[in-house]
Amino acid sequence: MRIDIITVVPDLLKSPFEASILKRAIEKDLVEIHFHNLRDYTTSSYKQIDDYQYGGGAGMVMMVEPIDKCISKLKAERDYDEVIYLTPDGDVLNQNMANSLSLKGNLIMLCGHYKGVDQRVRELFITKEISIGDYVLSGGELAAAVLCDSIIRLIPGVLGNETSALTDAFQDNLLSPPIYTRPANYKGLEVPEILLSGHQQKIDNWRDDKALERTKERRPDLLQE
Ligand code: ADE
Repeated sequence: MRIDIITVVPDLLKSPFEASILKRAIEKDLVEIHFHNLRDYTTSSYKQIDDYQYGGGAGMVMMVEPIDKCISKLKAERDYDEVIYLTPDGDVLNQNMANSLSLKGNLIMLCGHYKGVDQRVRELFITKEISIGDYVLSGGELAAAVLCDSIIRLIPGVLGNETSALTDAFQDNLLSPPIYTRPANYKGLEVPEILLSGHQQKIDNWRDDKALERTKERRPDLLQE
């Protein structure tokens, strides 16, 4: 998989890809991440990428031209499965979306800033608009990092244990059951007996029951989907 991220602040985005699982995925050539600084695609000498809103109002708008130049250059080099715009008014990210995006080959992610992008950017280039939740960030960069993480960990070979992404919370619209490690007794709090029993079938049933119980309690909305 290849992900091209278009941003005005590449520095805000680099560190998540320089550690842990994402770093290893890049080192293993399972994913390539390329950053593109929008200011490199401006024509004006002072590298202008935003301007005042037509109709007045507070906040600047990202101009269509530099974004057009950048996306058109990338599209001339290869085909893309999706051109994603990170925006609070997009579809809210969930595990299903991450699953289906993890099967794609080439993705572009456009990070918004200020008030957002000129509407014509959305009409001309964007195939998917994604929000990471109902709150406003100062830019799309942190949202792009979240989206990348949710996708990349699902690519086969990225996680050590192949089954571990399949048993994640949300994979069956269920939250995860409680989990424990040593010691078996900590300050009088004991690990449930069944987990020490060695009966795999009983353990699996217990986990299914607890996952359902927890989901009913905390996120009944997931069970309606
Ligand atoms: N940009 C600003 N806020 C955002 C959000 N919640 N999701 C995606 N992109 C954003």
